[in-house]
Amino acid sequence: MTERVTQPWVQPSLMALDDADCGTMKGTPAARDLKAVQAGSDKPSAADMPYAHQPGRAVVEVAGVDKVYANGTVALKGANLEVREREFVSLLGPSGCGKSTLLRIMAGLGEVSQGKVQWWEQDYDVVGQKGRKLAFVFQNATLMPWARVRKNVRLPLELAGVKSGPESEAAVDRVLEMVGLKDFGNAFPRELSGGMQMRASIARAMVTEPNLLLMDEPFGALDEMTRNKLNDDVLRLWQERGWTIVFVTHSVYEAVYLSNRVVVMGARPGRIVEEVVIDAPYPRGADFRVSTEFAGYCKQVSQALERASSHAQEAH
Ligand SMILES: Nc1ncnc2c1ncn2[C@@H]1O[C@H](COP(=O)(O)OP(=O)(O)OP(=O)(O)O)[C@@H](O)[C@H]1O
Ligand SMILES: [Mg+2]
Repeated sequence: MTERVTQPWVQPSLMALDDADCGTMKGTPAARDLKAVQAGSDKPSAADMPYAHQPGRAVVEVAGVDKVYANGTVALKGANLEVREREFVSLLGPSGCGKSTLLRIMAGLGEVSQGKVQWWEQDYDVVGQKGRKLAFVFQNATLMPWARVRKNVRLPLELAGVKSGPESEAAVDRVLEMVGLKDFGNAFPRELSGGMQMRASIARAMVTEPNLLLMDEPFGALDEMTRNKLNDDVLRLWQERGWTIVFVTHSVYEAVYLSNRVVVMGARPGRIVEEVVIDAPYPRGADFRVSTEFAGYCKQVSQALERASSHAQEAH
């Protein structure tokens, strides 16, 4: 039985803005982390670049986890998932099957009712140490509308107690450039398109140099072209930065395009029912989207999703 998490280190700004369980959060990031941000010292060397088919050690492991909410809803029952370094794993499943619940548990948010979660093969207290940081990106950009983009992006550093100054400004500039918003730091969120707002939200998640990025339907509200573009942006950053990503989506196409592995969940009780390994090389691009290989994987994942959904309906 896993203890209630008391020292979760997640992007506190994001949690505070949009998370029902944020009452359990005690963001305790340390100013020491800024050094790594500025120097980019967590950045992998070229020799360490991700090779999707050779994932490394476990970054987060969920073992036999049940989650029962206070109102008695059994959101997860016996969920098992291990995500290894530099994997890109998508979670797919019918609405209400527990994807967001599982993602939040991977973020150390809230208690599990049963089972065990480990980060970097240890307890949650290692999260926040150098090379062991996580960030959460929500479906909506959740930017502060009254603050300029760079202030929004700087927020996690401020919450970490990092004083505003040339060092934190340099960190903000660096992530804004990475997401292609270097000319928009002084804009207000309302002056950005939906896709640009999502990129600002990703920049905010990146400013403390996370290695584990948990994304809950981040592009669900966007048009297909913008979503495709952001998919490519995220893939590029994932490869460049050596991140590990867990990505919730309702789109079979998006899951197949992005992932090394698609995990399909079923509802009632929420659990993982199937996995499909997408054994296609990176970088992936427009050619992959129209390939027979892509179509084959989409069919495989769609069928798994149908099976998961029909189980859920039968159980209902
Ligand atoms: N805070 C909560 N309190 C009580 N029940 C909850 C809470 N959050 C989620 N649930 C329930 O837990 C189950 C799983 O919800 P969750 O949000 O994890 O599903 P999901 O797979 O992310 O759904 P969607 O695809 O619609 O986002 C649902 O039955 C939901 O009603
Ligand atoms: Mg959800």
